[in-house]
Amino acid sequence: MARTLPDILRIEWPAESPAPSAQTEQALDRAAEVLRRGGLVAIPTETVYGLAADALDEDAVAGIFRAKGRPASNPLIVHVSDVEMAKALAGGWPVAAEAIAVALWPGPVTVVVPRGPRIPDIVTAGGATVALRCPEHRLTRRLIDKVGRPLAAPSANRSEAVSATTAHHVLAGLGNRVELILDGGSCGRGIESTVVDCTVDPPRILRPGPVGDAELRVALGGVVAAGGTVTEVDGPARSPGMRTRHYAPRTPLEVSADPASRVASLLAAGHRAGWMTIHAADPRVRSLAASRDLVIVPMPNQPQEFARVLYATLHALDQRGLDRVVVDPLPEGEDWRAIRDRLTRAATAGDSPS
Ligand code: TXA
Ligand code: MG
Repeated sequence: MARTLPDILRIEWPAESPAPSAQTEQALDRAAEVLRRGGLVAIPTETVYGLAADALDEDAVAGIFRAKGRPASNPLIVHVSDVEMAKALAGGWPVAAEAIAVALWPGPVTVVVPRGPRIPDIVTAGGATVALRCPEHRLTRRLIDKVGRPLAAPSANRSEAVSATTAHHVLAGLGNRVELILDGGSCGRGIESTVVDCTVDPPRILRPGPVGDAELRVALGGVVAAGGTVTEVDGPARSPGMRTRHYAPRTPLEVSADPASRVASLLAAGHRAGWMTIHAADPRVRSLAASRDLVIVPMPNQPQEFARVLYATLHALDQRGLDRVVVDPLPEGEDWRAIRDRLTRAATAGDSPS
């Protein structure tokens, strides 16, 4: 571990520019240099920040596990700059992986495929499959091309903590455990990629994410016509990282069926509470708004927007010294599934404040 805090280098590539600025290219060059000699760099992606290392360098990848405090049993996603790089790392390329890559890459969806011989054991936790993702973020792909190697990158947070969607979150969570942070601003999607197991028929969603069921069905259309449709994990999750409590803030959090009453009773009992609400204009919210012991956070009532600000809101509320955070029940339906998943994992199981 370095003794000093990491350098934070700003990178950007405005949509209208044919190439990034010279300053951004320099920052990427420096990051590539650190990665090539086995160091750890925090990188922006369109989903969340990643803690990256050369995926083919066993020692470098071991550094990721140490920095995160991540159990060795939890495999990593390997990031590639295009489909060719992905195929070169796979031990086989299922039709479903091809369909997803063609329709949805670059994008926030990860495919689990048979593992090829170049992938070190440590990356897959000894398993026979490898998770591959080609990010939508142009600078992430440009960095991979500069390094000339695939990058293993889990979310850039300590194990079981809330993922980082800004460079500041990375710094606060990992500090000197990372050598360099590339600051690409806030992540546009805000929640981790959809993970799809393509080694089974029909393919299975191991982790819901920004790419929803409907989009996957369209992408897989031709593939699943014979075998069935894409299915969701039901029984014990096959993705080792999908343990129940994950992405958890320090402040206990709950999704309440009756948030107004819940918040009122917390305040009456002398607690300090936060309330993430998608109904900020509701009179019951406004009637409690005057309380000094309540922090009301109006949340977007549209799922992509909610996802984008979710982790930043959890990080910010964690700084407020609250006893409890209450969240409105979310709308039913497929569009909200990935967010319901993340909030369930952030929630404190079955307890209540004394
Ligand atoms: O959006 C994302 O996917 C972000 C950014 C940085 O790309 N990365 C990310 O990585 O969320 P991580 O390590 O926090 O989550 C990876 C998930 C874990 O649940 C892990 O168990 C699962 O993918 N996973 C990795 N390899 C797998 C494999 N071979 N089979 C099944 N699940 C796998
Ligand atoms: Mg993670």
